[in-house]
Amino acid sequence: MAKTKRIYYCRNCGNQFSQWMGQCPACKEWNTIVEEKVSKFEAKRGVRLNDDAGALDLGEIKADSTYRIPTGNRELDLVLGGGLVPGSVILLGGEPGIGKSTLMLQTALQMPFKTLYISGEESPEQIKMRAERLGLTRPGIKIYPETDTHRIFSTVKKEQPDILVVDSIQTLFSPRIESSPGSIVQIRESAAELIRFAKQSRTPVFIIGHITKEGVIAGPKILEHMVDTVLQFEGDRHHQYRILRSLKNRFGSTYEIGIFEMTAEGLKAVDNPAGVLLHRSGENFSGTSAGLVVEGIRSFPVETQALVSPAVYGTPQRSVTGYDAKRVNMILAVLEKRAGLRLSDKDVFLNIAGGIRITDPGLDLAVAASIFSSCHDLPVRSHYAFAGEVGLTGEIRPVARIEQRIGEAEKSGFERIFISAHHKINPELYNIEITGLKSIEEINGIG
Ligand code: TYD
Ligand code: MG
Repeated sequence: MAKTKRIYYCRNCGNQFSQWMGQCPACKEWNTIVEEKVSKFEAKRGVRLNDDAGALDLGEIKADSTYRIPTGNRELDLVLGGGLVPGSVILLGGEPGIGKSTLMLQTALQMPFKTLYISGEESPEQIKMRAERLGLTRPGIKIYPETDTHRIFSTVKKEQPDILVVDSIQTLFSPRIESSPGSIVQIRESAAELIRFAKQSRTPVFIIGHITKEGVIAGPKILEHMVDTVLQFEGDRHHQYRILRSLKNRFGSTYEIGIFEMTAEGLKAVDNPAGVLLHRSGENFSGTSAGLVVEGIRSFPVETQALVSPAVYGTPQRSVTGYDAKRVNMILAVLEKRAGLRLSDKDVFLNIAGGIRITDPGLDLAVAASIFSSCHDLPVRSHYAFAGEVGLTGEIRPVARIEQRIGEAEKSGFERIFISAHHKINPELYNIEITGLKSIEEINGIG
């Protein structure tokens, strides 16, 4: 039995200390340091990516950077940068119930590869029921309900899968380490073992990871540093749309997103985001307007909804779902100062329809239009669309790939689009009226 010692870890940054402290000296977070028991030998072990050889000559290393294994799931391939890279380790994070297990099982059932699905959370019967619900079945998928990494690796040796899926990293435990599953040392060790396996056998490994209330993958941040790719599955559990975003990708850009719809028969790729994210009946309501956003290679319209009402309590409420709350506060301040709105004694609620989250600041102008519209109870015409960033001085700033946004607005049936006056656009190329705005004050003239 190896000797054990107590080590203190920061849950946030993964740094290690010899004593407990209230604040982590490395990342400055409070109350993140936890105690863990580690055997002396294990605490020092690192990950070795090539077992037998020492240093290699760079010229002699064979690496085909273009080789990708298509997963058969169009949206997942897009986010991965064209498919799976042999030996890569992909961490899939998301809130409980968002559909991580569904996405992995469905992908496993669609890929023509031998897949071993390690389930530490659900029984084989539960997984079978899910597969039946998905209406997919094929030989070549093995389910192994196990959490002990040694047993997992001996089964992996026996089964020789092409792809390994682990659901979830928080349930795994390595018998080499004394701490309980889900603890930082366990997560780190289990992940290190999986990475070692992936690199040595060139088998792609998917690791599912839970997300905490604060929206970070439970366990040390170090897990995100260890893997090659971090994907986040997000959306509102009460809506059917899900966005798959890549937060880190050693083999591609982190720019792409995948859009899925959760249906009774599993996740479906969304072909036409405009059709699903925009619920327009042709009626004009105050407080709603459409913005053309760009996420990844795609541009699509989304509906922003605002409700501005007199504050019931002393301090006005600001509630934002689906967009950066800080940007919304900035837009509120700019509207107040430059467009003559009185918002300091009003509650403001802002929501993006469909439960999706938008990161593109090109949505600013639509957000401003919705707030303005709700504040004055003046509807924005439903065939108007917006694309522009709002600056601190109230200027409407140009946004990336405006031609694509205008084209998409036209395709989605809008008749007029408001953009920054700084764009050089030839209006004759489009079948949609284009109006350039210089400053947020001009929003007063839209109606
Ligand atoms: P799940 O994949 O279990 O989520 P996670 O692994 O991220 O915790 O997804 C569960 C939810 O998805 C659950 O609320 C039921 C729903 N669902 C469907 O709507 N359709 C389906 O075909 C399946 C399999 C699940
Ligand atoms: Mg699950």
